[in-house]
Amino acid sequence: MKVATIVGARPQFIKEAVVGEKLRKAGFEHVLIHTGQHYDYNMSEVFFKSLEIKDPDYNLEVGSGSHAVQTGLTMIRLEEVVLREKPDVVLVYGDTNATVAGALVAAKLKIPVAHVEAGMRQEPRDMPEEINRVLTDRISTILFCPSQTAVKNLKKEGMEKGVWFTGDVMYDLFLKMEKHFDYSLAEQLDLEEDGYVVVTIHRDFNTDNKERLEEILKQLNITVKDKRVIFPIHPRTRRRVKEFGLENHLENLDIIDPLDYLSMMGLVEHSWKVITDSGGLQKESYFAGKQAIVVMPDTGWVELVQKRINALSEPEQISNVLFSGSVNQFEKGIYGLGDAGARIAAILGEPG
Ligand code: UD1
Repeated sequence: MKVATIVGARPQFIKEAVVGEKLRKAGFEHVLIHTGQHYDYNMSEVFFKSLEIKDPDYNLEVGSGSHAVQTGLTMIRLEEVVLREKPDVVLVYGDTNATVAGALVAAKLKIPVAHVEAGMRQEPRDMPEEINRVLTDRISTILFCPSQTAVKNLKKEGMEKGVWFTGDVMYDLFLKMEKHFDYSLAEQLDLEEDGYVVVTIHRDFNTDNKERLEEILKQLNITVKDKRVIFPIHPRTRRRVKEFGLENHLENLDIIDPLDYLSMMGLVEHSWKVITDSGGLQKESYFAGKQAIVVMPDTGWVELVQKRINALSEPEQISNVLFSGSVNQFEKGIYGLGDAGARIAAILGEPG
């Protein structure tokens, strides 16, 4: 059986490191297609190298652009590849433009779509990622859910057939890679354990509104009076800071380039807490036993908020929420047992 997997952005490379390996071990023929949405060395290639992901068989070189340009170009170029390769299943991850483009191309060619990280829902409904998630789930044949909440979300929308709870493949990766985490950055930056917070902010919801972005940066400047603030900055955020003339708010923070997975996880493991709007990092911090302050009105990873491990925060509340207590107990196993990749491969291999 032949599986074609579509990846395009950082969180997908991370998931591919687990699922791709399991598919090949299970004997599937596996074609890997990179859309080229992320193309900088430290947004793309570094993940393939450090996580030993196989080189893509195709790179569609879509690059940056508006949503329509990115999605449309991906569809046009992907269709050619899919027609040539004739896979039995097209596998997509998460909620990016590569996800929805891959799902649409396959569904219209009547090729079954498998969606890893199906069933996640998050307000506001007009966020690009939310649109991508809802549309992809609708046209997927096999829906792999990372949480029981995701299974329930799909049920509410009338989807029960082809829905599987697998747990989260990112937990598989955490367990697999923990012994390789890279702690050298702490030494380079002269960081003390528990003496700093790790920050990532990249959602357009936070970066493309000047007032919101400025308030977030002001709050980081309050935080830096007590803890160092290490901020690996996404290219979108860097650009907006410049455009809005907010550079002076960065002066007291430790601004560094985006990090590869192993360095990021090494940094998080020795941090005090995390401040983020990333869907992935809010779980990775939980896996590492650290609280994340999630700078969004809502999260798909709602269990972590319900169990008071993570906390949602509006920009103006960040420092209050950050310093308002610590989590002592981290309940384990909320997102499965670390065997999600193996389950996905087993389900894909089942007849019918
Ligand atoms: C995308 C995903 C988002 C995911 C994120 C992970 C969509 C709709 N969004 O957002 O869900 O959480 O990836 O990072 O697919 N840029 C570079 N170099 C690169 C890549 C991007 O400079 O290698 C710049 C682009 O020019 C653009 C900005 O970063 O201005 C945003 O990139 P884009 O791919 O549009 O979306 P992300 O914000 O990364």
